[in-house]
Amino acid sequence: MNAEQPHPQYLGTTADPASLDVDVLFIPMWTESDALTDAAWLHDATGGEVRRARESAEYRVKLFETFVTPVVAAGCKARRVAIVGAGDIADAGAERLRRLGATCGLAARRFGAQSFAVAARGLGDAAIAARHLMDGCVSAQFDGGTYKTNSGQPVRSANAITIAAPGQDAGAIAAAVERGVITAESAIVTRGLANEPSNVLTPEEFANRVAAAAGGAGLVVDVLDEHRIKDLKMELLLGVARGSAVPARLVVIRHEPKGAPAAPVIGLIGKGVTFDTGGVSIKPADGMERMKSDMSGGAAVAGAMLALARLRGPYRTIGIIPLAENMVGGRAIRPGDVLRGASGKTVEVINTDAEGRLILADALWYAGQLGCTHLIDVATLTGACSVALGRHVSGLMGDPVPWVETVRQAATRAGDRVWPLPIYEEAREQLRSEIADMMNVGGRPGGAITAAAFLREFNGGLPWAHLDIAGTAWAESKEPYQSKGATGVAVRTLIELAYSGGGPQGLAG
Ligand code: BES
Ligand code: MN
Ligand code: ZN
Repeated sequence: MNAEQPHPQYLGTTADPASLDVDVLFIPMWTESDALTDAAWLHDATGGEVRRARESAEYRVKLFETFVTPVVAAGCKARRVAIVGAGDIADAGAERLRRLGATCGLAARRFGAQSFAVAARGLGDAAIAARHLMDGCVSAQFDGGTYKTNSGQPVRSANAITIAAPGQDAGAIAAAVERGVITAESAIVTRGLANEPSNVLTPEEFANRVAAAAGGAGLVVDVLDEHRIKDLKMELLLGVARGSAVPARLVVIRHEPKGAPAAPVIGLIGKGVTFDTGGVSIKPADGMERMKSDMSGGAAVAGAMLALARLRGPYRTIGIIPLAENMVGGRAIRPGDVLRGASGKTVEVINTDAEGRLILADALWYAGQLGCTHLIDVATLTGACSVALGRHVSGLMGDPVPWVETVRQAATRAGDRVWPLPIYEEAREQLRSEIADMMNVGGRPGGAITAAAFLREFNGGLPWAHLDIAGTAWAESKEPYQSKGATGVAVRTLIELAYSGGGPQGLAG
């Protein structure tokens, strides 16, 4: 979380891309028929290479495919130019543009470029495009090799990145680029936390790191230890932590800008299970190492709060991260145990592996106590969600519909894919317990939905939305636009939602 290297230069410019003195200049190409008329210099400057490669079908302009060639004549100041397949311009939304920027950033690292630029060409709103392109470029600078010992070799990352939007309003481009940088750097914090191994990142260590970073950014941070958590009667959070040798924590991060309206107060709640063995209802060994990232929701909240401070988000926002390690042990909770949460409601724990909803229940209730008026939680909550929707879209649930719709729109603007799932009354009935107010699981059918129905019991009647990121928080495969590992999903949605105050609909609610 600390940047020891000199801070790289990230710039927006309205100059002609060909005039930029960079190692590589990236030119996005929109579909096969893009004639590149705005880059007439390209042919001569590359000695005809770009045209030759296209005509010989050596380069087929496939999405995210790059073709790099040296500059051999005058007309372009860059050492090399790279054409990058950008797809259909009609699809150039936030996500596509960010991925395009990341493709350039990752390619630049492979080329060993110290400096590179991307031309924001042919796009409707150049400022918004510049923001997302820069977000992608900076996101690609993330280095996941924290524990590799070949430290003699410097990390390959660029020291200067420029987005060129010729002929546009310079002030608007500069502001947009800055927002892109802050967004990406926040997502990098999130990914760094989610990638950390659980022997290093315990609840205490997570809390300490977030407190240090958030304090430095001017946020007010309160870390509640196990005693204060007990004073609040959060038996659900404490119950999950009981099998572990390391204690629970509850992190509360406040962004309270001067002159902010009294409402809305947006509550961002993130699941912070630093490792999930499943507890006594233990998980199979295969793939269990992935459960080190079961705090991805909490990490997204931490990253978003840092961004909101740096962006001077205009609304009061409270980040709440319940942290625990779900372990097997002599003191661990057992299936059949009954716990009473801080809200007073009782839960029969049928499956100790459904722990995320337990710690979130206490945190959601607490958000209402702290004065939040609108809630959103983010959690790697159910394998069922990734079975239902796959690995490329997060599940969106909540109540009431207008607030969920507000979140959906924020996600779309931010470039996070989400898809709604319904919470019907029958889902609540699946949770009915003979002995307590509810069970913590509702059987296999609709597992993502019954989890949401469980959380709804603790939202205190406030507008509440829930993002299940179990399928999307971790990339199993390397792509031209992303590295393996933590994705930083949902950070941008949280930033956009809180920055816009939920937009026109959210404020009305
Ligand atoms: N952390 C898991 C969900 C998960 C699974 C996240 C795979 C990422 C990848 C969660 O705590 C869990 O174990 N959920 C159970 C719920 C079940 C017991 C009702 C699940 O999905 O199996
Ligand atoms: Mn679990
Ligand atoms: Zn879990």
